[in-house]
Amino acid sequence: MTLPKRTQVAIIGAGPAGLLLGQLLHKAGIDAVILELRSADYVLGRIRAGVIETGTVGLLEEVGCAARLRREGLVHEGVEISFGGARHRINFHQLVGRSVVVYGQTEITRDLMEARAACGAPTLYEAEDVILHDVTTARPYVTFKKDGAVQRLDCDFIAGCDGSHGVSRRSIPTDVQQVFERAYPFGWLGILVDKPPVSEELIYANHERGFALCSMRSHTRSRLYIQCDLDDKVENWSDARFYDELAKRLDATAVARLEQGASIEKSIAPLRSFVAEPMRYGQLFLAGDAAHIVPPTGAKGLNLAASDVFYLSRALMEFYIEKSRAGIDAYSATALARVWKAVRFSWWMTSMLHRFPNSSGFEQRIQHTELDYLITSEHALRAMAENYAGLPY
Ligand code: APR
Ligand code: PHB
Repeated sequence: MTLPKRTQVAIIGAGPAGLLLGQLLHKAGIDAVILELRSADYVLGRIRAGVIETGTVGLLEEVGCAARLRREGLVHEGVEISFGGARHRINFHQLVGRSVVVYGQTEITRDLMEARAACGAPTLYEAEDVILHDVTTARPYVTFKKDGAVQRLDCDFIAGCDGSHGVSRRSIPTDVQQVFERAYPFGWLGILVDKPPVSEELIYANHERGFALCSMRSHTRSRLYIQCDLDDKVENWSDARFYDELAKRLDATAVARLEQGASIEKSIAPLRSFVAEPMRYGQLFLAGDAAHIVPPTGAKGLNLAASDVFYLSRALMEFYIEKSRAGIDAYSATALARVWKAVRFSWWMTSMLHRFPNSSGFEQRIQHTELDYLITSEHALRAMAENYAGLPY
């Protein structure tokens, strides 16, 4: 594919944020080129979570990428919290009239990639050494290397959708950027296994041995997690040891339904909360993991990327179609307002459901009381349901 030498929006990164933005702009008739460091297969090879908010589904529908999600995704009207040996269902539908869809992030990325290829919109994979230039001028540009040759792409705007290790955030001077971070003193050991889920809906378990989560990708594929030490190693965990520990943290009904099988993927992920402000620097706009990271406990990572892209796409449409800068000038503040709410919710879920090393008796009582208040207060349940199902844009 020959890339144009000039475009309106240069998008760095073909993860869910970059691809979704690309399709929304394409639909609005705004030119954009996506530059991705890795191959498409590599991008699709990443195992990621899969609880999709109503707002994210709406955006996928807007770009015609929700058909398979509607066919294969599992609509969940609630979630279960287990502690003290008992499970408590939180019925989002009843509490806030909402539901979520369980559908792998990898599948969303695949659907978006296929839609972009089908409409012939330009995406360059294996674009190396992406460098952003003159982002504080009206004529920014990007250089990159493809097959050893350095190329240049001129543009009006750059959308930094290149994740937490990308070049975009690092292109913002440190004296301009403020970083807020919390690293949690534990990780998640997760396995993927072709066995039916232990329950119809997700189970988030608080246990004195540590957190556990029973999730799924379909009626025949489960995604299971246990809290582990940060410095733990996958090789220390045979499947048998994993199931044994998981069973110790679940209620009896779940244990009775836990079918053990050989894991097809096993990995440990650290947990952290991270926000970089502002999300705009001149003509550069950050979206998704490029600007913020949340621990997976609230299932907000992908959905936050989608809400950033919602605000950024509207702002760019307003600029090109209504000739107004109001949206792009308000983008950082607007996106951050929702980002911090999701960061707070993910921190709250993490604080309430995990066992913190060296936590005092007082802290453990508070945690237990937080759980007890949640399941006994209609107002607390509604607040949890609204945040889990997805706050409005
Ligand atoms: N140049 C070009 N592309 C890059 C560069 C670079 N220098 N650095 C990284 N990339 C690409 C990565 O290879 C990746 O495909 O940017 C993409 C960023 O995608 P994600 O990390 O998936 O981030 P995002 O699209 O914001 O999606 C956020 O992903 O990690 C999950 O939990 C997270 O669900 C959230 C979602
Ligand atoms: C997952 O299915 O992988 C998953 C679901 C919910 C979470 C985190 C991960 O909160």
